[in-house]
Amino acid sequence: MSLALLYSRAREGIDAPLVDVEVHLANGLPALSIVGLPEKAVQESKDRVRGALVNSRFEFPARRITINLAPADLPKEGGRFDLPIALGVLAASGQIPGETLSQYEFIGELALSGELRQVKGVLPVALAARDAGRALVVPQESAAEAALVSGLDIYPARHLLEICEHLTQGGRIPRYTTPPKSRTPVSGSDLSDVRGQPHAKRALEIAAAGNHSLLMIGPPGTGKSMLASRLPGILPSMTEAEALETAAVLSVSDQGFSAEYWSCRPFRQPHHTASGVALVGGGSNPRPGEISLAHNGVMFLDELPEFDRRVLEVLREPLESGRITISRAARQAEFPARFQLIAAMNPCPCGYLGDNSRNCRCSADKIARYRDRISGPLMDRIDMHIEVPRLPTEMLHRPTEEVVEESATVRERVETARKRQLQRTGRPNSALSSREVENVCVLDDAGRALLHRAMEKLRLSARAYHRILKVARTIADLDDQSEIQVAHLSEAIGYRRLDRQA
Ligand SMILES: Nc1ncnc2c1ncn2[C@@H]1O[C@H](COP(=O)(O)OP(=O)(O)O)[C@@H](O)[C@H]1O
Ligand SMILES: [Mg+2]
Repeated sequence: MSLALLYSRAREGIDAPLVDVEVHLANGLPALSIVGLPEKAVQESKDRVRGALVNSRFEFPARRITINLAPADLPKEGGRFDLPIALGVLAASGQIPGETLSQYEFIGELALSGELRQVKGVLPVALAARDAGRALVVPQESAAEAALVSGLDIYPARHLLEICEHLTQGGRIPRYTTPPKSRTPVSGSDLSDVRGQPHAKRALEIAAAGNHSLLMIGPPGTGKSMLASRLPGILPSMTEAEALETAAVLSVSDQGFSAEYWSCRPFRQPHHTASGVALVGGGSNPRPGEISLAHNGVMFLDELPEFDRRVLEVLREPLESGRITISRAARQAEFPARFQLIAAMNPCPCGYLGDNSRNCRCSADKIARYRDRISGPLMDRIDMHIEVPRLPTEMLHRPTEEVVEESATVRERVETARKRQLQRTGRPNSALSSREVENVCVLDDAGRALLHRAMEKLRLSARAYHRILKVARTIADLDDQSEIQVAHLSEAIGYRRLDRQA
């Protein structure tokens, strides 16, 4: 046979479209040409494949070798195709049998020695191979990531030779058996570390229960960052599907997937100097940004007014839709981005407005400009605003009789409230459509009158109106009530602090 066909997969967003690797040997001057790869990647791949074959004591065919990676218009990152290309050359030149190749998909980068190197984005490849009903051959280091997908036969290898033996002598590599999926307990910091701030903790619990966005306003050093970092620990545990989605985003990102993050809700805290691309994703073959790395988890924006306003504006669309489409000249990529936004800011540029420990030196004008930086459409999309005031110093240092709840206790209440929501509409309250809000956030006469007065007094927008109803619904769910009561509603209205000052 002088023709071989193998299956591999490219990366496009978090998808892994099929790539046919066709290898053809013809008579003529010895040469190797690869079509369907970008120029630079071609050269590098050629060198690695040639080195790996020679160093594994195979014969590099002295013929005209053409390798076609199809379809041609898919973006292809070089390294991952080394393995199928090398095997294709061996099969086409009769050095290994070609009959069983179509039962497998192959992915892996080769070292010049013939050793296999880990590649990024294996999880989406594993999902797609499973769905196509083929087994997957991967570098050893990638096996654990692939094994997150159930119902897939995985054959890990450290060296090209192991795979050749497997194909020649039939089943030499033992199938990788899925290790038990350990649900890593949420690490480190607990909500009980935070002293006082009962109002802020209550708001955090409501935000967790309904997946609501939250803005904390307060002077420096009052525990805002502490509180935000404890949110993942009180969120409901992830479903298998959520965990897979989140892992798939990490898998194709620059940092790659690591099994210790399996089933942990992400917590991302991009700095305020972060660029738009860092935040939403980008690149010539687009990679996910912070909002996608926070998918099914939390994105914390500390010092919100310091972020570039244009950068914040790009958050508006994913906040509504839960996904982001990145368009590049050549192509588009879509990434999931259902993140929970938590933000923090000082009350004024110096940070001490309303703080009795120090005097604020900001002029009214300066304060207005500071707040203006985030006013408007983004503000409108944040469900809850709270103040996090300074505690009396003795409260931080003195041992107290204060009853502090641990994250696990709060998480139980959150889980129960979230279950009610999922049973009712199939989604957390923050994601209800306007129509669903009308159906499931019904007020009695007293509630309607209260909300009407608040709308007028606080000059609330239609968006804010819906947000109050959703938050009230969540508060009622935490209270295990099927109807929204006036107490629930008035608490929800209390979380529109910034509207009041508009
Ligand atoms: N409510 C609190 N309970 C316990 N420690 C606190 C509290 N508030 C602040 N601290 C201490 O002050 C430090 C700074 O808190 P941080 O959360 O970074 O404040 P902020 O983000 O509001 O500026 C924390 O690391 C912690 O040691
Ligand atoms: Mg902070």
